[in-house]
Amino acid sequence: MIGRNDLCWCGSQKKWKKCHFPDPGQQTSTKDLQNLYQKKYGIILKTPEQIEGIRASCRFASKILDATCTQAKEGVTTQELNDFAHQMHLDHNAIPAPLHYGEPPFPKSICTSLNNVICHGIPDDVPLKNGDIMNIDVTCILDGYYGDCSRMVCVGDVPKESQHVVDVSHECLMRAIAVLKPGTPINAIGEAIESYAENQDCSVVHQFIGHGVGIRFHENPQIFHNRNKNTTLLVPGMTFTIEPMINLGLPEAVVDEEDQWTARTVDGKCSAQWEHTILITDEGHEVLTIWKK
Ligand code: MF3
Ligand code: CO
Ligand code: CO
Repeated sequence: MIGRNDLCWCGSQKKWKKCHFPDPGQQTSTKDLQNLYQKKYGIILKTPEQIEGIRASCRFASKILDATCTQAKEGVTTQELNDFAHQMHLDHNAIPAPLHYGEPPFPKSICTSLNNVICHGIPDDVPLKNGDIMNIDVTCILDGYYGDCSRMVCVGDVPKESQHVVDVSHECLMRAIAVLKPGTPINAIGEAIESYAENQDCSVVHQFIGHGVGIRFHENPQIFHNRNKNTTLLVPGMTFTIEPMINLGLPEAVVDEEDQWTARTVDGKCSAQWEHTILITDEGHEVLTIWKK
């Protein structure tokens, strides 16, 4: 919970007790907070029952991700990885959220983004080769709830540069997660990520962002991974992703004209990304999509 002396969630920069705090002697009820966040920001603060459902979905998404990453070896195609992950969803009565999502409908069940592809790579029949780096992104719907996570796979011996951006993007995610607790402004996430990435001679993609998740695929709030002015305060019951896309070269993304999904770096240099779904708790945070690096 926010303390009475923390900044108010409305972004006024006033203390909570001097602003939206209804009774200075007490804490705002969960219901009041839910109504306020819904009205002011369109953010759904989840109930304990919803959190249970989202937790289960996230746990399963990370299990699919783990298993799929294990299959990713030299010679294997991303289509084969897609089919493996797709079947794992079906076997457990889950739905792969990417399939038919958006406009034009995304054609596959997972995203596989290789080397210079920033995100939304479409699985195809090209086999993985020694030296490739690849992001695999899994979002499942289980019992109506969404869990979203992604990670990098290195195929064989990868160039030093590629390994660098893989490591930096992972560290960016971990540093961002470390600041999460009730009362932290949302823009502390972008600050943690961009300051580290810059320090490591990498750039942060602006065009794709993290997002609220759980009841729907993409909810409020928007989570920018670069420095920004969103001072909305984190509060318990928020579930969202952090998924920094970090580039070795320029930050700009160009979306493929033909498939209208595949986003590539403008300069052809490598990009890397790791993603977790996170819950803000009374004490701090809980990473809902546990995978091991
Ligand atoms: N899973 C991606 C994310 O992290 C979104 C993929 S959209 C899709 O938000 F249509 F490409 F699947
Ligand atoms: Co996401
Ligand atoms: Co994702």
